Amino acid sequence: MEERSIIEVLKANKQEKLIKYLKTLADEERNKLIENLEKLDIENYFKIINKNRDQTAILFNKIEKPFVFEQGKCDIKKYKKVGENALTKGQVAFFIVAGGQGSRLGFEHPKGLYPISPILQKSLFQIHTEKVAAFGKYYDFSPELFIMTSSTNHDETVSFFNDIGKDWYDLNKIHFFKQRDLPSIDLNGDLILSDKLTIFTAPDGHGGSLLALKNNGMIDLMKKKGIKYFSYFQVDNPLINIADPVFLGLHIFEQSEVSSKVLPKRSPDEKVGVACIIDGKTSIIEYSDLPKDLAEKKDENGRLLFNFGSIAIHIFSVDFIDRITTENLQLPYHVANKKIPYYDYETNTIIKPEKPNGIKLEQFVFDAIPMAKNAIFYETIREDEFAPLKNKDGEDSIQTCKEGISKLFKKWLKNSNINFDNENKAIVEISPLFAVNEEQFASKIKNYLTKVPNKLYLE
Ligand code: UTP
Repeated sequence: MEERSIIEVLKANKQEKLIKYLKTLADEERNKLIENLEKLDIENYFKIINKNRDQTAILFNKIEKPFVFEQGKCDIKKYKKVGENALTKGQVAFFIVAGGQGSRLGFEHPKGLYPISPILQKSLFQIHTEKVAAFGKYYDFSPELFIMTSSTNHDETVSFFNDIGKDWYDLNKIHFFKQRDLPSIDLNGDLILSDKLTIFTAPDGHGGSLLALKNNGMIDLMKKKGIKYFSYFQVDNPLINIADPVFLGLHIFEQSEVSSKVLPKRSPDEKVGVACIIDGKTSIIEYSDLPKDLAEKKDENGRLLFNFGSIAIHIFSVDFIDRITTENLQLPYHVANKKIPYYDYETNTIIKPEKPNGIKLEQFVFDAIPMAKNAIFYETIREDEFAPLKNKDGEDSIQTCKEGISKLFKKWLKNSNINFDNENKAIVEISPLFAVNEEQFASKIKNYLTKVPNKLYLE
């Protein structure tokens, strides 16, 4: 696109401020900014933002309670066998979405680098990667690990693995790729600059992962390697059981195309997506889209009608993702008001706003669920599998995440009847290289220790 056409697009989308600014720039600088706008496919971006900016559309006609495979109510043995079979045949890959900006945590590096384990201060990436290596050993296969980054954190993530990650797992088995970036606009509808000559962009949400997998050749790679399913999880949850054979077996046996782990919500307003049936289709609805009266409504047993929240742990069938990404996948866009640091043309400085000043567009991975021929929900237990690192303090914080890790391993020790010197004081960390699950832990622990000291690390 020539400069003239870009200016036309800007004019048509009321970007007078930017047009005026462009006129003040020297030729070389102007060309750089024009090139930046062109690369961002700005015309298409305006089509998307204009369509999605005012989200007043009715989201559903009918919403119903979903069926959930609940803990203690399904045939664990049967599913486990099926799942183990798929793992030992090497049909399963692992996929970490790590392209987010981690703005709430306020850590200056990719969130996966955050040192979170309570004793050795292992990073989130190390914990996940060691699990991949350990599960590979346990099920006797060499898993492929896919890691999605975004332009803001890609290089630092890859360098981190090249520097120290090579000790955790074979780097040839780890596939990094970037998701797409989208520009943002401020509350007046103007494009935002992140510096003098760069349009501000942000990753397009974890929903962008599906097209990113396809467009970066990862789906083809999975198919070539005989991978039929991938275990999807977020970088910020160190408790995830990445290779749960029961969950996997359920997915395969029930011929699901996408399966999601859910758990009873802490309260009606917990900020997690909610499992439901929307207009006849299995779905997850964002908490903010579920009207308050429905979020608080009880069923005939006095339990919340929409009781189950999604914790972003999914199994996807590769064929399903291949199909929907080949068919021009268009997930909806969700609008989020965010605080976006911006370059101020007038003062020539970067301003960090105190309040949200901009609009970001994000896609959510769970919006692919209604596209599946069959999708299922499986209940898990919060303290076994969910301790996300989202905030500096308070709920889902550094402290609760570290405590969550230690608490899980203390539970394993107690279930194995090992006594503590002082249970409240004890901090425990078990490397996946020692045990990938409670079963393996129970079979080994008695040979290692009879009493738990106040600090225990096992590898
Ligand atoms: P969150 O929605 O918690 O966002 O992401 P975040 O970016 O990590 O943190 P905040 O909201 O800025 O504080 C949940 C998971 O989805 C990934 C994140 O890396 C995290 O694993 N994610 C999110 C992406 O991979 N890409 C995105 O565009 C957004």
